[in-house]
Amino acid sequence: MSHSSPVFPAKLLVTGGAGFIGSNFVLRAVSAGHTVVNLDALTYAGNLDNLAALASNPQHIFVQGDIGDAGLIARLLDEHQPNAIIHFAAESHVDRSILGPEVFLRTNILGTFTLLQAALTYWRSLAATSAQHFRFLHISTDEVYGSLAPSAPAFREDSPYAPNSPYSASKASSDHLVRAWFHTFGLPVLTTNCSNNYGPFQFPEKLIPLMIHNALSGKPLPVYGDGLNVRDWLYVEDHCEALLTVLERGRVGETYNIGGLNEQTNREVVARLCAVLDRIHPAGAPHDRLICFVTDRPGHDRRYAIDCSKIHSELGWRPRESFTSGLEKTVSWYFEHDDWVKRIASGEYRNLLAQNYSTS
Ligand code: NAD
Ligand code: TYD
Repeated sequence: MSHSSPVFPAKLLVTGGAGFIGSNFVLRAVSAGHTVVNLDALTYAGNLDNLAALASNPQHIFVQGDIGDAGLIARLLDEHQPNAIIHFAAESHVDRSILGPEVFLRTNILGTFTLLQAALTYWRSLAATSAQHFRFLHISTDEVYGSLAPSAPAFREDSPYAPNSPYSASKASSDHLVRAWFHTFGLPVLTTNCSNNYGPFQFPEKLIPLMIHNALSGKPLPVYGDGLNVRDWLYVEDHCEALLTVLERGRVGETYNIGGLNEQTNREVVARLCAVLDRIHPAGAPHDRLICFVTDRPGHDRRYAIDCSKIHSELGWRPRESFTSGLEKTVSWYFEHDDWVKRIASGEYRNLLAQNYSTS
């Protein structure tokens, strides 16, 4: 089957669109003219507050439900006839995957399988032209490639998979399923593997929002191990723009790495955050006095780095935001949305902190 460019503006079935990246994507997609059917189970990480700006917008249809519910997905596809599926829904936090891996296997592997099967049935039922335009965009992570030595070249699309945590192993499995549904059944898939995102609406269990939240509350800033682990950081809006670019112009069956060209050790990230906080929210004493080193994460990957030359040369995408401006925007957003964090920082969140930081 030949593939034509997807229809624009389109009707998109987005999974996990009430989470961090998903909600940023939904807001952007709707403002670009697309209509979004947003399927999200509203786990601890899903938050309809993120989508308050779309409350009375007919271009956004929210459905609470699980990607593992085959009947529900079949009904949604039949009723809404989307032009593409954008698959964000996942359990996404490495530390939680160490504390309780089962739900990662259920959602990330079995959930993706269920979605692929429903997508395949739906795609096969479409008229030839609609089928040629259809896309299944699977959102994945650079963590599937494992850990890099300090001077090793960055991950490329053809780097071998070597996942080390239950989270990355479950995402790697889902990537393999997506690949197989293309090669065996011809489902028109696209996969993206992205580095660490930061920005508005990120749940404060991840490094940057956790540090901002703790710093604003005068609490310790817990850096794991020696703090010299390296991540590549990308502002979430740059990621969303890359996803729309891949959806529009990516070659079916291909994988695209997305990165921020911005490798930093955790120590550097926290020090820079403290400097921004000192400027935006002076606390009488420098915020870096709150930094403390705590027990390392088991199996902690030392370094991730992304070579994003393929998406740049093929599709013309590059990150726009600098780390300095991105961090300033992010700190300002959390500072101005104290109520958003307060609503989250309740019972379930406190349990995670008690479990995850108990030996420190
Ligand atoms: P998140 O944890 O903030 O959001 C996940 C969303 O999925 C939540 O809204 C949750 O309610 C929903 N969800 C979970 N299980 C579900 C289920 N069974 N059915 C339906 N909905 C369910 O995650 P995020 O950080 O926004 O990440 C989104 C995607 O991007 C994930 O697939 C993740 O692996 C990938 N990714 C994230 C990053 C990052 O830095 N955050 C980097 C690269 C790739
Ligand atoms: P995280 O945001 O959990 O993303 P990932 O593990 O998917 O890369 O963590 C980013 C880095 O920050 C990682 O090396 C672990 C480290 N980290 C800390 O040092 N302290 C913390 O409290 C957290 C949550 C993470």
